[in-house]
Amino acid sequence: MIHTRICDLLGIVHPVVLGGMGTATSAPIVAAVSNSGGLGILGTSTLNSAQLKSEVEAIRRATAKPFGINHLLFEVDEERFSVTIESRSQVASFAWARPDQDLRSYFQRAHDAGCKVMYMAGEVGECLRAAAAGADVIVAQGTEAGGHVVWMASMPLVPMVVKAVAPLPVLAAGGIADGHGLAAALALGADGVLVGTRMMATHEAPLHPNFKQAIIKSDGHDTVLTEIPDIASGRVWPGAMSRALRNAFIERWAGKEWALRRDYREAWKAVLEARKNGDADNAPLLIGQDAGLVDSIKPAGEIVESMVAEAEEIIKGRLSKLVRSR
Ligand SMILES: Cc1cc2nc3c(=O)[nH]c(=O)nc-3n(C[C@H](O)[C@H](O)[C@H](O)COP(=O)(O)O)c2cc1C
Repeated sequence: MIHTRICDLLGIVHPVVLGGMGTATSAPIVAAVSNSGGLGILGTSTLNSAQLKSEVEAIRRATAKPFGINHLLFEVDEERFSVTIESRSQVASFAWARPDQDLRSYFQRAHDAGCKVMYMAGEVGECLRAAAAGADVIVAQGTEAGGHVVWMASMPLVPMVVKAVAPLPVLAAGGIADGHGLAAALALGADGVLVGTRMMATHEAPLHPNFKQAIIKSDGHDTVLTEIPDIASGRVWPGAMSRALRNAFIERWAGKEWALRRDYREAWKAVLEARKNGDADNAPLLIGQDAGLVDSIKPAGEIVESMVAEAEEIIKGRLSKLVRSR
């Protein structure tokens, strides 16, 4: 068993957290991760307040364990945020604030409701900003990650953030799909990991089976940092790129972003249709470089358990044997 400060702070058994992915989480996967001893987090970016309420009720029916709710701060709306506050989830997780937003007021309201506050960022300065505003846990997200990212890779970023925000606990995110990743994150000074892409190829993830197969097929070398998915959706993220599979959709618009800006409404209609039909070539699929480590669809709880067991084996076995007395 691997026990870190994060386990005590969040009341969980394993230091493994499901990223609150807007398009790829719903009650079943959140509950599955929490029931396995990790922490499930629900993404809210595609939900209205009524849908969020009913997802939270479904999570509560499926687990009595701690879980979290994620908000993208740049587009947070009061109605949805109030549902989070009223639901008194153990964790309120945030990411992607605008530079002019006051983090302290959101964090304070979450604290007043009894939530621990988690904030994810990919730059030291942004992590420090969240720490100064009262966050309890910082997630350092490397550019290997699926979804929206910035430029720094986890290997330098995680120890930099750990040092900068000490003594706050840090979770490493980006590129982590197995026990090797968990062991490496702990070696970098993190107190645990937050996982996205690996959890998308699970029985419980709310994705069309063709998208799960596309993750399995990806060798991780075929992802790209791009603005195309955001231009197509008409959403402007503060300072983010997306890491996405370089599929036919991305190829079609690469170098023609100017035209996509003009035609984005039509393009987005086609994306929604492709998503509905499970056409993984013609809809953006946001995944990390760790897709190259994903070779099967498994139950989410099994992933948490095998990740921890493998990390334990690596630390107790191979790594400990490398140390010799002089
Ligand atoms: C499809 C997708 C959607 C995501 N949506 C969100 C989101 O709404 N909020 C958030 O904080 N992080 C979001 N993320 C980022 C994850 O929380 C996490 O940082 C990332 O997936 C970790 O890297 P990995 O995919 O290599 O495991 C998303 C990631 C993916 C792949």
